[in-house]
Amino acid sequence: MLILGIETSCDETAAAVLENGTLVRSNVVYSQIATHQRFGGVVPEIASREHLEKIDEVVSAALDQAQVTPDELDGIAVTQGPGLIGSLLVGINYAKGMAFAAQKPIVGVNHIEGHVYSVAFEFPPPEYPALALIVSGGHTNLFLLPEPEKYKLLGRTRDDAAGEAFDKVAKLIGLSYPGGPMIDRLAKRGNKRAIIFPLAEIKDNRLDFSFSGLKTAVLRYVREQQVEPLANAEAPSQQILDLCASFQNAVVRALVRSVRKAAEVHHPKTLILAGGVACNSELRAAIQELAGQLKIPAYIPSPIYTTDNAAMIAAAAFPKLLRGEGAGLDLSADLSLRLQNIDLVPIDPKKKKRYRL
Ligand code: KG4
Ligand code: ZN
Repeated sequence: MLILGIETSCDETAAAVLENGTLVRSNVVYSQIATHQRFGGVVPEIASREHLEKIDEVVSAALDQAQVTPDELDGIAVTQGPGLIGSLLVGINYAKGMAFAAQKPIVGVNHIEGHVYSVAFEFPPPEYPALALIVSGGHTNLFLLPEPEKYKLLGRTRDDAAGEAFDKVAKLIGLSYPGGPMIDRLAKRGNKRAIIFPLAEIKDNRLDFSFSGLKTAVLRYVREQQVEPLANAEAPSQQILDLCASFQNAVVRALVRSVRKAAEVHHPKTLILAGGVACNSELRAAIQELAGQLKIPAYIPSPIYTTDNAAMIAAAAFPKLLRGEGAGLDLSADLSLRLQNIDLVPIDPKKKKRYRL
């Protein structure tokens, strides 16, 4: 089965052709980072305009590289939400146009479910139950998957997403957008024990995350210690290096703490780490170490699949297309699209009532 995936939910225009749910025939990603960098973050209006300019070229490149014509496709998968409305609509309208012209089924995919499926290309099918930590610029979610396509939300961020915290702290110390990769690089040369940032205490029997307190603690530190913002990326001060290392370590500790607690209660057989922040070297190592302690495999995709891409969107659509599911041409963007089959549960389901979304 050949699926064309299209992803335009944020600042990547992406298209991919996937064979039988696992073989990536092509994976084309056009990143708008250079455009948004000078504004210090993604500007929605500019993002949608740039998607519109690039979408045709990106989809054509994906089809060419895979040596596939639209006629040969078995279906088209497109990100339906969550994301930026204008950006989502570009991908959806393009996908609908193609689906109509080539008379192919179309499937709307939840972007977060896409991230979960980013493990489809480099690993054998996961064993269930699986625990999945999805950490990106927009989301921080910890899911238990008792079986494929079933999601129990064990924890989510109560304020900033993990990637957002990286980006905001980076901006504070003079790094350009997106700050995550740069903090990761600088942290390698710093002392992660130089500053002890406390982790947020989450009550109510939940495995939620909170990063806004950490961000404020960094801000306070920068002011009190009069940390000079980075002027020359080639010559960072030891203070900046230590700050990056200590901040990154606090984020990683917070994330891993919840995954460890969830593992103790739910005994997963696979640990999945995905989303842009899954590129972070310290987080990858920490999740790998935890999986080792739990004696289960860690599924952590290569960076090309953890950051936004369309191969993961096609992979998430594969089981749906196999079952013959498809949306009509009235498919539209849904900014706050919820996963299907999702359930929000407390840490210990026996202790407290079930939570509702
Ligand atoms: O999944 P993604 O490409 O887009 C969203 O769906 O948001 O994630 C982008 C986020 C940005 O916040 C970026 O700073 C972060 O992932 N990121 C990292 C690293 N690489 C990307 N954060 C920490 N360390 C990294 N190495
Ligand atoms: Zn994403």
